[in-house]
Amino acid sequence: MKVVDYKAELQNELQDLAQKNKKIGFVPTMGALHKGHISLIKKSVSENDITVVSVFVNPNQFNDKNDLKNYPRFIDKDVELIKNAGCDFVFTPSVKEIYPKEDNRIFDFGDLNKVMEGKQRNGHFNGVAQVVSKLFNIVKPDVAYFGRKDFQQYVIIKKMVKMLNMSIEIVDCPIVRETDGLAMSSRNLHLTDIQRNNSSLISKTLFKARNLTNKLSVKELKDWVVDAINENPFLDVEYFDIVDDLELKSISNWQENNNKVGCIAVKVGKIRLIDNVNFNL
Ligand code: PAF
Repeated sequence: MKVVDYKAELQNELQDLAQKNKKIGFVPTMGALHKGHISLIKKSVSENDITVVSVFVNPNQFNDKNDLKNYPRFIDKDVELIKNAGCDFVFTPSVKEIYPKEDNRIFDFGDLNKVMEGKQRNGHFNGVAQVVSKLFNIVKPDVAYFGRKDFQQYVIIKKMVKMLNMSIEIVDCPIVRETDGLAMSSRNLHLTDIQRNNSSLISKTLFKARNLTNKLSVKELKDWVVDAINENPFLDVEYFDIVDDLELKSISNWQENNNKVGCIAVKVGKIRLIDNVNFNL
């Protein structure tokens, strides 16, 4: 596996391979890798001739500068894990390499960006789109892999690829969970032991909620989830909504003919955790 810091070098390597009709899979990450990321890399390795992973903590997607400063960084360990997963190139650019000048592009994702994470984290998805579009232009992958934990991000990246006429297949991969059900996230590292133990209530409640769809209306079920989690003194629900998986519009009854996803964000002290489950009947 080659570790490459510069886009020109990576582009040279990949152009040669693309000319030889090698299929390129890409996994963008911000490092601090866990088993969820490794599952994306392994999927790419199994489905493509060449796999590229990027490790870049993107300043433009953090609306909270403290969050950016405290974001966990373990580049040596990450490179080792990526290599063991069978990747061919790991791209580790500096901020200057990705943003030689300020990126002022504004993406209009319409309502997709006005709900849930988009509403709570001003500018977040615009920053994600800035970096992912730049990385896509450098790597020019055939396929790119995204974890379903960041469900809204996955939907928005699919929209971005359409808007920019990029011919890249966007693949979503299932959430990887700890043994107690907590969705794996680099942010879990910041939880104290007691916060960590209590956080498993989030997924446990979502799983229980799935079994209540024939007993409760959508509104009653949403309230039930929020109350069940907020009863725990360590947890504070920021939002819980059940949305359709294409437009992210809030659904109001179970009979609607669409795929339904229950998405949640919970504050655990200063840490924000997100999770989601399918609510298909
Ligand atoms: O999901 C992430 O880790 C980031 O948002 C991404 C897609 C790597 C862009 O920085």
